Amino acid sequence: NNTHSPERPLAHLTPSAGWMNDPNGLFYDNETSTYHTYYQYNPNDTVFSLPLYWGHASSQDLMTWKDHGVAIEPRDDQSGAFSGSIVVDHNNTSGFFNDSTLPGQRIVALYTEHSNTSETQYAAYSLDGGYSFEYYEQNPVLDINSTQFRDPKVFWHDETQRWIMALALSQEYKVQIYSSENLTSWEFQSNFSHHGILGYQYECPGLAKVPVIHESPSNVTLHGLNSTTNATAQTNVTSVDHKWVMFLSINPGAPMGGSFNEYFIGDFDGKTFTAQDSATRIFDHGKDFYALQTYSDAPNDDVLGIAWASNWDYGAYVPAEDYRGSMSLVRNFTLRPYNPNPETTEFTLYSEPLVNYTQLHTNQSMHKTSLELNSDESVLYRLGKYPQGLLEFSVEWKVNATAVLSKRDFADMSLYFKGVKDDEEYLRLGYEHNAAAFFLDRGNSEVEFVNQNPFFTNRVSQNIEPFKIAEDGLPIFKVRGIIDRNLIELFFNDGSSTSTNLFFLSEENYIGAVEITSGVDDVFTILDFDVKQLSV
Ligand code: FRU
Repeated sequence: NNTHSPERPLAHLTPSAGWMNDPNGLFYDNETSTYHTYYQYNPNDTVFSLPLYWGHASSQDLMTWKDHGVAIEPRDDQSGAFSGSIVVDHNNTSGFFNDSTLPGQRIVALYTEHSNTSETQYAAYSLDGGYSFEYYEQNPVLDINSTQFRDPKVFWHDETQRWIMALALSQEYKVQIYSSENLTSWEFQSNFSHHGILGYQYECPGLAKVPVIHESPSNVTLHGLNSTTNATAQTNVTSVDHKWVMFLSINPGAPMGGSFNEYFIGDFDGKTFTAQDSATRIFDHGKDFYALQTYSDAPNDDVLGIAWASNWDYGAYVPAEDYRGSMSLVRNFTLRPYNPNPETTEFTLYSEPLVNYTQLHTNQSMHKTSLELNSDESVLYRLGKYPQGLLEFSVEWKVNATAVLSKRDFADMSLYFKGVKDDEEYLRLGYEHNAAAFFLDRGNSEVEFVNQNPFFTNRVSQNIEPFKIAEDGLPIFKVRGIIDRNLIELFFNDGSSTSTNLFFLSEENYIGAVEITSGVDDVFTILDFDVKQLSV
């Protein structure tokens, strides 16, 4: 379904028609090597409204998705089957299954049944590996008489041999934790409350045991740009242990406007999550990364996740014909020492997109090294005559900070991603030396929505640290980006921070050229620039 309309992203999940928001019920079926992704779905319109369903898609390569339509329905037309999760009940703790269902396909969904007067938790199960669902007869499985109680994320906790559910008591700023032996009767364990940026409400919490990798990323073989491995390839690491991470979605109230994800690093004993410190960590610094959820039963115990690539501030207004909404790429999460020092206790969540190069064709690629940037010349790369809007790039540059800079100068190094039909339309990504920050400007477009919506055109910016320090003491920065039609996903410094953003140029004005410029002389040296034009 991904290639029907000229505007649809090629390698990202979109609904065949209608409206999509949060990812739901993510799981990997080991029996058939298939990733299943469900999502908040309105098949009847391209905006959010009740009744709301779970849509369903599956993929083996994480680049191409098969559409399976509606998977879970709400109770009635005034209701919504709101966000929730799926677990694989290998040992049939729920009693929903018999021997005719393979252990790896004993699928149980826990989700919120929403109406204007209540939010309660429902169970549904599938006897055919996740394609169709039966509803548990004694629903709800959890009801505390609240209208703001939602988004259960369930997982198996090995240490206590129990199922754990984290869900939001949204406007009380509480993540509640419950546990169960059978997925249908749930006992309250603890509250994790008033942590991080509160915004208006807590939504879509999640807990996961994330691998800690005691290696600086530059010494580790990532699944990155030059990799041809499949999505489940193992990272080459020396030692691995784990820390618990609490994921949380806030809407509205994001520092960058609207909705965003934050996370906390800590410990979980089966009852209580204890954050190691009071830090608020931003998951993705872009404007379009929300309601992140992780996959149950992912290969190698990897922590893989996906987010809705939009923002409640303007998600209902972005240009749409037959569908609205898309997901981010699936990402692999690890905790790594932020600064490549073996003694460090500071860990950061690294994100790596699972780009499956065996599924993509490289139509054209360019690689340059050692470019000195000056204000009177720019470097322009054309991506061929018929770009399809899917490309990947990576830039590594050194800041010659010994150059005398006036604080009055706007000392930028900018990448202009220009439309192939009309290069007056472009997306601009820049780094400004005096602010030590990135910016992304998606306002240079003729598209009416872009010019009408200030939530969309206000700039995205983000401070970043050097990736490494060169032998001569000067800082080196790095960014890798994937552009897929109207989505850009940026991975700074091998993924220690990310920025995911929608952008809209006029119809079929796909990115066709990249121009690199600088407003100042002798400040930036591009050490390495790599761009590939891809297709599915
Ligand atoms: C988050 C959210 C959830 C809710 C769902 C409804 O984006 O508001 O809290 O379950 O969307 O679609």
